[in-house]
Amino acid sequence: MCGIIGYTGPKSVVPILIEGLKKLEYRGYDSAGVAVVNKSKIQVRRVKGKIIGLEKNLKLSPLNGSYGVGHTRWATHGRPCEENAHPHQDCTGSIVVVHNGIIENYLPLKQKLKEEGHTFCTETDTEVIAHLVEKYFQSSLEEAVQQAVQELEGAYAIAVLSTRDLGKIVAAKDGPPVVVGLGDKENFVSSDINPLLNYTQKIVFLEDGEMAVIGTQGVKFCDFKGSVLEKKVEHITWSPLMIEKGGFKHFMLKEIFEQPQVVRDTLKGRISLDSGKICLDEIGITPESLKDITRAVIIACGTSYHAGLVGKYFLETIARVPVDVEFASEYRYREFILDEKTLVIVISQSGETADSLAALRAVKEKNPVSLAICNVVNSSIPRETDGVLYTHAGPEIGVAATKTFSAQLAALALLALHLAQVKGKINEKESLSFIESLQRIPHKMENILNQAKSIEELALEFVSFSHFLYLGRGVNFPVALEGALKLKEISYIHAEGYPGGEMKHGPIALIDEKMPTMTIVPRDGVYEKMLSNISEIKTRDGYILAVAFEDDEEIKEKVDKVIPIPSVHPLFTPFLATLPLQLFAYYIASKRGADVDQPRNLAKSVTVE
Ligand code: F6R
Repeated sequence: MCGIIGYTGPKSVVPILIEGLKKLEYRGYDSAGVAVVNKSKIQVRRVKGKIIGLEKNLKLSPLNGSYGVGHTRWATHGRPCEENAHPHQDCTGSIVVVHNGIIENYLPLKQKLKEEGHTFCTETDTEVIAHLVEKYFQSSLEEAVQQAVQELEGAYAIAVLSTRDLGKIVAAKDGPPVVVGLGDKENFVSSDINPLLNYTQKIVFLEDGEMAVIGTQGVKFCDFKGSVLEKKVEHITWSPLMIEKGGFKHFMLKEIFEQPQVVRDTLKGRISLDSGKICLDEIGITPESLKDITRAVIIACGTSYHAGLVGKYFLETIARVPVDVEFASEYRYREFILDEKTLVIVISQSGETADSLAALRAVKEKNPVSLAICNVVNSSIPRETDGVLYTHAGPEIGVAATKTFSAQLAALALLALHLAQVKGKINEKESLSFIESLQRIPHKMENILNQAKSIEELALEFVSFSHFLYLGRGVNFPVALEGALKLKEISYIHAEGYPGGEMKHGPIALIDEKMPTMTIVPRDGVYEKMLSNISEIKTRDGYILAVAFEDDEEIKEKVDKVIPIPSVHPLFTPFLATLPLQLFAYYIASKRGADVDQPRNLAKSVTVE
């Protein structure tokens, strides 16, 4: 939630901040602002709404400066409005702060600072940081920030500048991510690497309790006590082209179409078609440690949680390991039962989701083996797990997760096979058969994407509906949940995912001609059961769409519309069945004129609880 950016160097600072903020906009988009230093004066510009509004404002009335910071906000404390937009200032206007996170003790701090004579202008938690830096300022900005952060409780990634100590931006991290980009006579600070890719691939990731003092000539790293740190410089392989739309109307559509490649990339180098062996040497957890695992707990949020539900089927069916799948936001507050023979798998695209990170920290007290399945290299979650299995999906910009879901499924299938092999639960023939099925998935995904036009035509018939039901059973129940989530989050149509068999226990009361049902009905072990559920809806005048295998003639008689998908090993149906549901939601939302890539009230990286 919220994105921060800072630049110091010879180029014109405002365009770099604006371009950077656009790439961070997925993190929040209810207000935005910049502060730039021109000679020894700070100029601040803030607007309610999206970056485009800030950009227009700055075109009408430009700001010039030699360095500066910017912010895109997802409101937590204080409603979205210009006054509450960052950057925030101290009483004298000589210090500005941009902040991602929440200062939990801001109310007592605010009270104390007021008693000491500070004047507050906003409803935000962030403003206390500016006043604390003011309070402690003596000679250097970094020393003042070091003292200020000692008083903060909560989570913060901040970038601070001041005219009392010119030529530097001070960044500090405890919780949300901070990356520093090292360029040629120019340096950057940002919430993630996307804004930096056009300028540098040399990146330093700050850890909690660390600071960076960023100047044009160099960057100094230290801890909150001021001790200087030697930080490792990482070389990032993502390219700037990966974060462009590439001719697609929306990032979401581009990312849906990237899924065959994403699955190929996630499988690549990790499977052997000769021996059937899975090679996951890179994950940092030895086969010996995995061998003794007696159960697994998957912890995640949102779409990653739905991938986890599918993963349960993969792990239980293939590796015969019992699995519980838990919402991170619930699990962390439970009296959970774990031991060192439990494999805890935290699934997170961003690697920064606050609840997933907090749940991981809570479970670590019980010493389980912990593994992250993550898309963002070096993000917070994989830095704290024993091992990490990276999904190779590339940057996902659309706020609604699509390609990373498929990549997570691929990673979970690999993990299930790896565990099965390590534990001796599968023979070579069975391994090879699963691997061959997996290998064929990208091509089958392409066949589905080739039908996008007909899915669009179908979707357009449903643009004006207000409610939708999604039904699946077994491994496709999570697909129903994911299909419903996609529809509701980008089109704002109410949609519910349900296991088919639960219909008659309540939800069937909702069925009428205004509530269509999307069913996922591959020919699998519960096919006949799904047909019965379909018939129960049909006899109550419900309209039914079905995602079904293309060679299934029977289904055509039972439902109103069929969306065909190639047949596949039933366990792996989610790889294919999800795609038409993503497209269906996308085309409806796009036709309704919704902001597909940045749906209202959402942010991609939920770094607050
Ligand atoms: C939905 C979506 C969210 C995320 C959730 C977890 O389309 O994107 O539900 O899946 O916020 O995010 P990560 O995977 O980054 O932990």
